[in-house]
Amino acid sequence: MSQLDELVVLGIDTSCDETAIGIVKGDRILSNVVFSQVKKHARYGGVVPEIASRQHLRMILMVYREALKEANVKQEDIDVVAVTYGPGLMGALLVGVNFAKSLACGLGKPFVGVNHLEGHIYANFLAFPELSPPFIVLLVSGGHTELLEFRGRKDVIILGRTRDDAAGEAFDKVARLLRLGYPGGPIIEKVASRGKPVYHFPRGLMDSDDFDFSFSGLKTSVLYFLKKNPDAAVEDVAASFQEAVVDSLIAKVKKAVLKRHIRKIVLAGGVAANSLLREKMHRLGEELKLEVYYPPLELCTDNGAMIARAGREIFLSEGPSSHELTAVPYLTF
Ligand code: KG4
Ligand code: ZN
Repeated sequence: MSQLDELVVLGIDTSCDETAIGIVKGDRILSNVVFSQVKKHARYGGVVPEIASRQHLRMILMVYREALKEANVKQEDIDVVAVTYGPGLMGALLVGVNFAKSLACGLGKPFVGVNHLEGHIYANFLAFPELSPPFIVLLVSGGHTELLEFRGRKDVIILGRTRDDAAGEAFDKVARLLRLGYPGGPIIEKVASRGKPVYHFPRGLMDSDDFDFSFSGLKTSVLYFLKKNPDAAVEDVAASFQEAVVDSLIAKVKKAVLKRHIRKIVLAGGVAANSLLREKMHRLGEELKLEVYYPPLELCTDNGAMIARAGREIFLSEGPSSHELTAVPYLTF
């Protein structure tokens, strides 16, 4: 086995619609291969669970071989096999978990189960190895919107979360209302760049005393707006919607920083790829003199390297997971 801080960890993520495998050595990414199934799901306007697991089955071996090849690593050189065991789609998770267990067994190497949400946070440690807790995390993905105080792996305080739709889910649903396709986030961002935020949509819970979020009212208000104003420019509606989501997120981050007296902010998850969110977070950082961290785009969305990095942390602090571990679709922090 390699020295502990130079462990070669293979990370697998099949929680949703990307078959992703990455290899890291310490904090260095040797490869990070993502096979996206987006085209297979796009015509349904969202992820179809059966199609997702079938595609993972079809692609996982090829993605594995590609990850080894890109990393220039022989499979015998892998020290630890890490995999997402939740949250996510049951069938999709099972493909990754069983592949990981079989691989670990076959190679005689330890196996580690990783919480996908933790993986998103650890993407930041790959991008910024000097990053150290405590920090506030805004974790925004297709299934989750959480505001956390991260004091250490085993010391995470949940400050707030969405009471209904996740931020990414809101992007996906509104993109469908605007007939822009799937996944909604990147498309809305692109279309919004040609428009202006001239319409005011509600910022759910923005002024509430807690750290919770709500996006379902915003989505409904876009729906009614479109019925009343069928000729409104899609670009302006997209820009106005995007601004409303970002304003709601920023408001609660600001509140958390002021109340918890923590001056470091970390963005994580697919929605952290949004440039308006990154820009406004950066501005908040300047206004309040905060350190603001967000990973490069390819580490924001689902990938295997982030799972490998979190897997290393878990392995070093807790050792391997039991082979009895199985997929947990509703896993939380
Ligand atoms: O973290 P992720 O890749 O998968 C989950 O764990 O859910 O996040 C996917 C979500 C989708 O809802 C997608 O629309 C959103 O992230 N997303 C974005 C952007 N890129 C991806 N949302 C806003 N702006 C983006 N540029
Ligand atoms: Zn994710």
